[in-house]
Amino acid sequence: MWNIFKKKKLLITDDCSIDMNNIPKHIGIIMDGNGRWAKKRKLPRNIGHKAGVEALRDVVKECSKIGVKYLTLYGFSTENWGRPADEVNALMKLLVEYLKSEFEELYKNDVVINNIGDITKLPLICQNALNNAFEKSKNNKGLVLNLAFNYGGRAELIMAFKKINEDIEYGKINKVDLDEKLVANYLYTAGMPDPDIIIRPSGEQRLSNFLLWQSAYSEFWYSDIYWPDFKAKHLHMAIHDYQKRDRRFGGI
Ligand code: FPP
Repeated sequence: MWNIFKKKKLLITDDCSIDMNNIPKHIGIIMDGNGRWAKKRKLPRNIGHKAGVEALRDVVKECSKIGVKYLTLYGFSTENWGRPADEVNALMKLLVEYLKSEFEELYKNDVVINNIGDITKLPLICQNALNNAFEKSKNNKGLVLNLAFNYGGRAELIMAFKKINEDIEYGKINKVDLDEKLVANYLYTAGMPDPDIIIRPSGEQRLSNFLLWQSAYSEFWYSDIYWPDFKAKHLHMAIHDYQKRDRRFGGI
């Protein structure tokens, strides 16, 4: 088991301290900057993505250790299909390799490996890897790791609206019952809390079609470092800043 610090009130690191009683339940991360990280080193972009997986590995472990309940990682957007085929293939391969190499440790540490997005459009090998990982880990009780692959917020909403429409037509639900809670139940994140904080490294400050519905009241945290350089200390800094925010959810 990874060390659990949960019982301590404060996690004090070299860079900041974290109140262990106020850990965000759901963290979303837009893992940006792999390409620029590689370019800076005169390396191929795919090496940047590989380095991105190393960063991801550490962040998943850290989230699990400190008691984050949901971590959603934006791995491949519905728009990323427009990238050169060799980059798309490399990202798909990295997903399969990650699940293969990390599954045992994630499983031992009680992680549920879930996916969000339309995975039916992914290569069969990716679909199988994601489905197997989910089937084997679905009864775990620790961190829920949402791997967003072929995910787009707009596509997710269209998928949900189509299903809602279908269920209205078949009389499973009633038009008058349509409300925010009902819509949320038709999203890939049904049953999960909305992200408390969305982290985006690499200097960009936009949502890029990530968790559009769910991020209505998320706090945002940006950093100039590229994703492959993102370490546990940056996660701690993001959580530290999050804990200082005054979340009013439209109230006063
Ligand atoms: C954005 O950086 C990053 C991506 C589109 C891919 C992120 C994917 C991974 C880190 C690996 C996925 C694998 C698993 C196991 C989830 P960019 O390429 O747009 O960087 P740039 O803006 O600097 O070009």
